[in-house]
Amino acid sequence: MKILITGGTGFIGSALIRQLRSYRRAEIVNVDALTYAGNPESLPGLEHDPGYRFERVDIRDREALERVFREHRPDAVMHLAAESHVDRSILGPGVFVDTNVVGTQNLLDVARAYWEGLDDRPDASGSSPRERFRLHHISTDEVFGDLPPDAPAFTEATPYAPSSPYAASKAASDHLVRAWHRTYGLPVVITNCSNNYGPYQFPEKLIPLMILNALAGKPLPVYGDGGQIRDWLHVDDHAEALWQVLQHGEIGRTYNIGGDAERTNLQVVEALCETLEMIQPTDIGSGYRALITSVTDRPGHDRRYAIDSRRIQHELGWRPAHSFEQGLRETVQWYRDHPEWVARVQSGAYREWIEANYADR
Ligand code: NAD
Ligand code: TYD
Repeated sequence: MKILITGGTGFIGSALIRQLRSYRRAEIVNVDALTYAGNPESLPGLEHDPGYRFERVDIRDREALERVFREHRPDAVMHLAAESHVDRSILGPGVFVDTNVVGTQNLLDVARAYWEGLDDRPDASGSSPRERFRLHHISTDEVFGDLPPDAPAFTEATPYAPSSPYAASKAASDHLVRAWHRTYGLPVVITNCSNNYGPYQFPEKLIPLMILNALAGKPLPVYGDGGQIRDWLHVDDHAEALWQVLQHGEIGRTYNIGGDAERTNLQVVEALCETLEMIQPTDIGSGYRALITSVTDRPGHDRRYAIDSRRIQHELGWRPAHSFEQGLRETVQWYRDHPEWVARVQSGAYREWIEANYADR
């Protein structure tokens, strides 16, 4: 099986590719524009893997996408490429609409034309390439908006009510994917997951930012009162769920994926401080906690997200393997043990490497 993965150099895409290649589950074509969030150094060793190909292509570039489909002839597409950071979407929403909405439409058009041209005669496996093709769209729980403290967690039937420009752009992309299924019959599956954490996450997101600031003795900036709640999903558990949905998900169906780990931001930061204290005790008088600083809240900040993942658990047998405490410990250790990856991201050296090595792609 050959899977075309968009955004495979980002945080979740790279975890997915590392997992798929380590189990030799599929050949991969990674289609990624290498924005600031794309880092080939998150895919160590894969340049020598014959089952892995990289294409530096922007999903907004229709001709380039058509060439990639023509040359690689994928059996399935997993679409992760996106602008993904809420704070950036507040500062500059334009690129979020361009990539997440228009880019997704472009991908859908190209994938549809490709799928319509696939052979519809059964082969030795008993089904046709056209019947087997899937487009899996990877989305977020943020499309459901702000969940009141005592309300039940988001199910797949929860109405969309996005708050931030990021969430609105992802909601739009989900609607487009459903429309391409309903109108043109494109065989799609959709997943909406909660906040991911784990190794190789760009340190603009809460958990890596706090770990690296703490290790550097810098303030830990908690927005507002820190009482906002997120559900935390280990990225490797997410990657496994994505594979199960691609393999066994029902066409046209949506699956919510969560980590069963609702925590306030303050609880997360305090747990990080405690974990750091065990792994690398600080000489700061009252410990890492002394670095916690309340800063101005994010505009439009959603108070709570929570995921009900019973559908994927019951129908596909998936469940998260990591407890939050174990996952956090492993993540802290990973950042501490990979100072080179961190330094090259923080200094921008990874960008220079990309321009030197991928300038002609
Ligand atoms: P990320 O920002 O780490 O990576 C995004 C990747 O997409 C990068 O490699 C980037 O170079 C690429 N990209 C961006 N614009 C592109 C374009 N126009 N053409 C081609 N490639 C482009 O994101 P992530 O955290 O890995 O998230 C992956 C997906 O999962 C996104 O669709 C995101 O909305 C969704 N998601 C993420 C989370 C999370 O907690 N990180 C939670 C829910 C859903
Ligand atoms: P983030 O990692 O940006 O993910 P998202 O906004 O997609 O949920 O933020 C997670 C939570 O942490 C969110 O409620 C905002 C908060 N936060 C802080 O309090 N301080 C920070 O420096 C960052 C980056 C986030």
